[in-house]
Amino acid sequence: MKTVTINTLNTLKEQGEKFPVITAYDASFARLIEHAGIEVVLVGDSLGNVIQGHDSTVPVTMDDMIYHVEAVCRGNNKSLIIADLPFMAYATEEQTMENAALLMQAGAHMVKLEGGAWLEETVLMLSERGIPVCGHLGLTPQSVNKLGGYKVQGRDDQSAKQMVLDAHLLEEAGADVLVLECVPTALAQQITNELSIPVIGIGAGPSTDAQVLVIYDMLGISSRQPKFSKNFLTETGDVETALKAYATEVRSGAFPQPEHVFK
Ligand code: KIV
Repeated sequence: MKTVTINTLNTLKEQGEKFPVITAYDASFARLIEHAGIEVVLVGDSLGNVIQGHDSTVPVTMDDMIYHVEAVCRGNNKSLIIADLPFMAYATEEQTMENAALLMQAGAHMVKLEGGAWLEETVLMLSERGIPVCGHLGLTPQSVNKLGGYKVQGRDDQSAKQMVLDAHLLEEAGADVLVLECVPTALAQQITNELSIPVIGIGAGPSTDAQVLVIYDMLGISSRQPKFSKNFLTETGDVETALKAYATEVRSGAFPQPEHVFK
């Protein structure tokens, strides 16, 4: 695999070629992901759940993120690496700039933040300062306490319309990529078609430009298998082959299947 950049992802979108994204938190998995030719690694704050054993991402700190971003970057020189800005790390302009810079200096190529219209200025500011941004709409786990649980988002007309507006605002502000989490298939399809930036789905159906899974979910070692995930390890038997199978199924459109989506 050649070194992946934002241009690679834009070209894949333009050509209608789907691409796989996977989370990683350490150098060993990051190395296998590179060997499997997976274009994008997300150092997600889901590490709060799967590494640290918390019941949400809220306790994850900037120090945690920097530690795991550095580890992942040591193991993978080819994939594009996105790092999550954790809970309350982008609550003010000053915090955002400082924390985004720390993640980029730790080796990330892009930062991800959760939220819609309220982040317009933040995305603009990061983008103008040369920091690529990944937006995140739908189920935004850092807001789980405000959302009242881990629920599919955008099911009613009003919230669906708001999500479409938010997606456009983020793109216009300079976001380079957008994650849609736990969103009905039709809504994710509409947003993917309307945006020119690549849209990465998780529990958002088959129409997005890319799919992302939490690596521990797709290896079947998380405490709970989400509906939208699939265990690729049982049918393949080793981690690198499981990662390759995931990449192949995303590229061909074989994953996700109807049982993984929300109508
Ligand atoms: O933290 C994470 O792993 C994520 C993905 C679930 C999209 O944000």
